[in-house]
Amino acid sequence: MADFVSNFWSWYIIIPTVAGIIACFLLVRWMSGGTPPSDKPETMGHVWDEDLAEYNNPLPSWWLKMFYITLFFGIGYLALYPGLGTFAGILGWSQQNQYEREMQKADESFGPLYAKYQQQDLAVLAGDEEAMKTGARLFATYCTTCHGSDARGATGFPNLRDTDWLYGGEPQAIKTSILNGRRGAMPAWAAALGDTGVENVTQYVLSLANREHDATAATAGKEKYNQLCIACHGPEGKGNIMLGAANLTDAVWLYGGSPRAIADVIAIGRNGNMPPHKDFLGEARVHLLAAYVYSLTALGR
Ligand code: HEC
Ligand code: HEC
Repeated sequence: MADFVSNFWSWYIIIPTVAGIIACFLLVRWMSGGTPPSDKPETMGHVWDEDLAEYNNPLPSWWLKMFYITLFFGIGYLALYPGLGTFAGILGWSQQNQYEREMQKADESFGPLYAKYQQQDLAVLAGDEEAMKTGARLFATYCTTCHGSDARGATGFPNLRDTDWLYGGEPQAIKTSILNGRRGAMPAWAAALGDTGVENVTQYVLSLANREHDATAATAGKEKYNQLCIACHGPEGKGNIMLGAANLTDAVWLYGGSPRAIADVIAIGRNGNMPPHKDFLGEARVHLLAAYVYSLTALGR
């Protein structure tokens, strides 16, 4: 629990928690008084609807015991597990070490299988039904948060089922993307181009994609494009997989294809971030994932 910046916050949690439990004990004890049911029970002196009287009977004992059980459970839990400020709990449990234990167990049972897969060529592995079932499970666990459960992505997160690749669709390129991560570097041009400049270049980008555009603005934009954009997106706007510079001539738009969305990207830039998975998952799992992602388009899985 190194998240606390000072001891104060630790005690800020410990004191009210312990005081709360003690107060609950006292409350239950206080409430457990009263006379046992008899022929002539004591009343609290409250009467409603003429004859509906409130008796001062004790709580049923099973109910009372449940209160005590929950209180003792709470104390036991706080003693064993982290919960009281920075106190780590007698068991020393943490999410991190539970995760590591589970991963280690999984490695022991699946390790040899992953090692066998890792020996295989990615394109061949992609055709192995059993391996791809495991690949799909790994994808569902580690990749769907960003790329979607169907791998079709979302705005800013590339679709892995189309044949349009920022960094290349060869098996090895896919593996490199997953292993080392990728970071798109599309600079912001608002300062260099001004509002009109951004609008003109946007019209030129639309013309590259064979979309409806304003021809005069596009001609003005082309000049700026050749100065500022050509190095990364290429003379025909087909992009560059070495840099992850998007292809601007197709119908695939990572950040949205409306003129507004395109102008936004040009004005403020974008830095798509694919996190590296080498240390997190290990190369063997990444190898299997790369084969799986490759199989989505290559084999239309
Ligand atoms: C935190 C979100 C996130 C997670 C988790 C994530 N990705 Fe990505 N991924 C991205 C983004 C964003 C990009 C695009 C990077 C860019 O714009 O330059 C990307 C790009 C890629 C690419 C390159 C696509 C191309 O067009 O060249 C592949 C392949 C890929 N991811 C596979 C995976 C796999 C497999 C996993 C699961 C192990 C995964 N990603 C997990 C966000 C994520
Ligand atoms: C330094 C290289 C570089 C330069 C220069 C550059 N871009 Fe980009 N551009 C990129 C990269 C990389 C991406 C992908 C960003 C990402 O994946 O997050 C991108 C993305 C885009 C996109 C979004 C494409 C999509 O699919 O949504 C547009 C539009 C674009 N650039 C237009 C331009 C224009 C117009 C210029 C010149 C004014 C320009 N870029 C200059 C590297 C560059």
